[in-house]
Amino acid sequence: MYSIYCVGVGPGDPELLTVKASRIISDARQIAYFRKKNTLGRARAIINTLISNSAPFEYAMEYPVTNEVDFRSDKYKHSINRFYDDCANKLKKLLLNDDVVVISEGDPLFYGSFVHLFRLLKKDVNIEFVPGITAMSGAWNNSKLPIAMGDQPLTILMGIQSREELKSHLESSKNVVIMKVGTQLEKVKSVLEETDRLNEALVIEKATMPEQKIIPLREYTKSEAPYFSIILISEDHYE
Ligand SMILES: C[S@@+](CC[C@H](N)C(=O)[O-])C[C@H]1O[C@@H](n2cnc3c(N)ncnc32)[C@H](O)[C@@H]1O
Repeated sequence: MYSIYCVGVGPGDPELLTVKASRIISDARQIAYFRKKNTLGRARAIINTLISNSAPFEYAMEYPVTNEVDFRSDKYKHSINRFYDDCANKLKKLLLNDDVVVISEGDPLFYGSFVHLFRLLKKDVNIEFVPGITAMSGAWNNSKLPIAMGDQPLTILMGIQSREELKSHLESSKNVVIMKVGTQLEKVKSVLEETDRLNEALVIEKATMPEQKIIPLREYTKSEAPYFSIILISEDHYE
C-alpha cells in the first residue's frame, strides 16, 4: 500500500510553507483536506498556486457539522465519529492507487483534525508528517510580540474551556495563548477582565492572511471573533 504524507501548510501566508512541504505538495497526485461545507477550505486556499498546473485528484473531507451543534452533545459526537470513519475508509481506497498528501492548516499535530484519522489509520497505513508553522507563531511574529523569554513558561488555553478553568490558568500563568476564541469571545473577555489581564491582551484575526487584523482586546468591539482568531497575552505586553 502507498503512504499518507500529512503536511502542515502554515497559518495562511503561502510563503510560510517549508521547502519540504512545497515540494511534496507540488509533486502530489492525490491530495485531501478538511473543509467546512460551501467553502474552498483554508488549507486548500493556501496551496492554490502550488497545484494550479499539476491538477492532482482532490478529496475534500467536508465536516458534517461545525459550530451549529454543541460539540459536547451526543448528536455531534455521533455525526463526527461517523464522518472520520468514512474519511479513513475513503483514504484507504485512494491509497490502493497512489500516495495521498493530506494538507493541514498550521501544524498537523497541533490541534489538527487529522489526528482523529491518524488514530484510526496508524495500525494499517504508513503515515509521515511534515511540520508546519502554527497560527500562534504567525500571530506573535506579525504582532512583534516576544511571547516567552528565558525561563518563562507559556500556557495554551482554548476559548471553549469553562470560565472556571480559564480563570484558574490565567491566575497562575503570565504568558498565555488563547485559541478557538470565535463564539466564546464575550466569556473570554469577561474572564480576562475579572483576572485583570484585559489590558495586556491582543486579538489577532486571520494571522498572516491578507485580511489580518491586530487589535488590543480592550478596543475590540465585536461580540464574536472570526473562527481564525487568537488571543496573545505576554509579560512583554503590548503598550
Ligand atoms: C483546530 S485549531 C488548528 C490549529 C493549527 N493546527 C495550528 O497549528 O495553529 C483552529 C484554531 O487555531 C487558531 N488559528 C488557526 N489559524 C489561524 C490564523 N491564521 N489566525 C488566527 N488564529 C488561527 C484559531 O484560534 C482557531 O480557532
